[in-house]
Amino acid sequence: MSLYGRDFLSIQEWSTEELEQVLDLAADLKEKQQRREAHPILRGKTLGMIFQKSSTRTRVSFEVGMWQLGGQALFLSANDLQIGRGEPVKDTARVLSRYLDGIMIRTFSHAEVEELAAYADIPVINGLTDRLHPCQAMADLLTIREHKGSLKGLKMAYIGDGNNMVHSLMHGCAKFGMDISVATPTAYEPNAGIVAAAKQVAQGTGSRIELTQDVLEAAAGADVLYTDVWASMGMESEQVARQAVFKNYQINQQVLAAADKKAIVLHCLPAHRGEEITEDVLEGPQSVVFDEAENRLHVQKAVMALVMGE
Ligand code: CP
Ligand code: NVA
Repeated sequence: MSLYGRDFLSIQEWSTEELEQVLDLAADLKEKQQRREAHPILRGKTLGMIFQKSSTRTRVSFEVGMWQLGGQALFLSANDLQIGRGEPVKDTARVLSRYLDGIMIRTFSHAEVEELAAYADIPVINGLTDRLHPCQAMADLLTIREHKGSLKGLKMAYIGDGNNMVHSLMHGCAKFGMDISVATPTAYEPNAGIVAAAKQVAQGTGSRIELTQDVLEAAAGADVLYTDVWASMGMESEQVARQAVFKNYQINQQVLAAADKKAIVLHCLPAHRGEEITEDVLEGPQSVVFDEAENRLHVQKAVMALVMGE
């Protein structure tokens, strides 16, 4: 099944088989990289990386991933592009399509990424929007599969803000038949449209998607505990108010004790210790956050190889 030329904007838009192809290729490329075996699948190809928001993992893993695949990557800060001075996205898309073989974009508006993809005739990969973070969720699924052997039938508990991260995790869990229980404060639930779409997929795969305000209920028996910052990029002005609203939405020893004994703890990072997760849990034996960060590299290499490789 060829994925050549496809955009990767949302997990929801790819089938389970296509997503499985990503995880399998990621595992294969990871092994090759560990053996230092060359795999120049994208020799001579160039990825443009547009950043409207800060990044450590996304920038470095895409850039290094492109090198490891034999191609190259260009870091394009939106502040320096004409897009930052008002050049339309639709013009930027068509111009960049004449130079590049693929675009990765991290920005605020998901609609802007969809417009970029509609006008570009090269693949566009979503490196995070206010709505979704699909590359992170795919790295998370790879990490869970490595630690647990398989995905189907596992339970994830997500604790915190109903944000871009949990949206992509709900998509991913639904596609792979994993249960997900999401605990958020009232009024901070995930987007209702995304929940409904994920539930529809879940009906076909046997996964259960639950929303609750009760952290311990979500965590009960979970195989995977997941959290993310209380205030995402772009919400800095709400940071202080959110600290009060979210203070009980934390992964700590009590929450860990409610989960399965062999539960693993994930966080997309960067983490705010003492807010959404305690230092002892983040640094503890059940935390796999650095395996998870590493897997951004392998999963994104697989996505790029599949959509940009002929
Ligand atoms: N998890 C993640 O996307 O990290 P960065 O913001 O550092 O890219
Ligand atoms: N929800 C976070 C994820 C960061 C990787 C944010 O959007 O800032």
